[in-house]
Amino acid sequence: METVLSGIRSTGNLHLGNYFGAVRNFVKMQHDYKCFFFVADLHSLTTYPTPEDLHGNIKQVLAEYIAAGIDPETATLYIQSDVPEVSQLYLLLNMNAYVGELERTTTFKEKVRSQPDNVNAGLLTYPVLMATDIIIHKANKVPVGKDQEQNLEMTRKFARRFNTIYKVDYFPLPEPFNFGRDLIKIPGLDGTGKMGKTEGNGIFLADSPDIITKKVMRAVTDAGPTKPKQKMSEPIRNIFTIMEVVSSQDIFNYFLEQYNTCKIRYNDLKKQLAEDIVRLTTPIRERILEISSDEEYIGRVVKMGAEKARASASQTLHDVREIIGYRPFY
Ligand code: TYM
Repeated sequence: METVLSGIRSTGNLHLGNYFGAVRNFVKMQHDYKCFFFVADLHSLTTYPTPEDLHGNIKQVLAEYIAAGIDPETATLYIQSDVPEVSQLYLLLNMNAYVGELERTTTFKEKVRSQPDNVNAGLLTYPVLMATDIIIHKANKVPVGKDQEQNLEMTRKFARRFNTIYKVDYFPLPEPFNFGRDLIKIPGLDGTGKMGKTEGNGIFLADSPDIITKKVMRAVTDAGPTKPKQKMSEPIRNIFTIMEVVSSQDIFNYFLEQYNTCKIRYNDLKKQLAEDIVRLTTPIRERILEISSDEEYIGRVVKMGAEKARASASQTLHDVREIIGYRPFY
C-alpha cells in the first residue's frame, strides 16, 4: 500500500490555504492509504517562539487538524520532535546536501531578503529536514500546496542521491499531490499574493463568523468590468479562486456569468463568499473548541501517534545505518 504524508509548521492557526492546499486532500486519502500527518515543531524553531508559545501552538495545531477531519485512529498523527529518529536521519542526510543548492532555493532566498538579521543554519537546511520528514516513512504521495513544490523537488533529489551514492533502491521518490488537478495556491484577499501566516492575510478555521465576514467584506476589488468577458484583475481573480473551492458550482457559475455580462455587484459577491466560508468553517470551529479543551484526549492522541511514528521511523533509520555502514560491534 502506498504511503501518504503531510505536515504543517506549528506557527499559528490553520487558514484556508492550509486547509485546501494540504489538510482536505489528506483527509480524503486517509482511509485508502497508509497515512502520516505531523506537526512540524522543529521547523518552527527557525522563528524563535517562546517556550509558552511553542507549546500552545503545537496543541492548537493538533486540535485544528483533528477538527478539520484528520482521524488519529486511522492516520498516524504525531509531533515531529517526539520522533528523535527524525533528527538523526536529518544529520545523516545533511552530509549529502550541498550548500550551493540549499542557498539557491527560493524560500531561502526570500528569508534572506525578509529577515536579513536572522539567517540561521536551520533556514538553510530547512529542505533537508523536510526531506527527512517525508522519506523517514518512505512516503510516496505528499498532499501540499503549490508553495511546497520546490521543497518536494529537493526531497526527490536527496532521496535519489542517497540511492545513487549507496547503490540501493531504498527510498521511493515522493510526489506532491492534489486530487485530479495541479497543486493549488489559495490567494489572500488583499489584492496580490498567497494567503499565509506571515503575510498577515489569513482567514482562519477558528475565526468567528463576524471576523470572517469583516475580512471578506474588506477584500480588495476594482472599478468593475466595462466590457463582456473582460480579463479579471488579480484581486477579483483571487476572490473567484477562493469561491471556486468554498462555494457550490452553481453559485460560482452564477457570479462568473454576472461578471462576464458586467452585471456583477462586488458587494453581493463578497457577501456570498463570506456566507459560504462561514458555512464551511462553523462546524470545524465548534470542534476546535471542544477538542482543545480536552487535554486528556489530546494527550492520548499524541502518545499513540508518537508510538506509531517511532515504530516506522526507527525501522528506516535502522536500514539506513546498515546501508551507510554503521554495523554493530557488540
Ligand atoms: P506550512 O506550515 O507553511 O503550510 C502547510 C501546508 O499548507 C499549504 N499552504 C497552502 N496551500 C495553498 N495555498 C496557500 N495559500 C497555502 N499556504 C500554505 C502548504 O503548501 C503546506 O502543504 N515546510 C512545510 C511544513 C512541512 C512539511 C513537511 C509539509 C515540513 N515538513 C513534510 C509536507 C511534508 C510548511 O512550511 O508548510
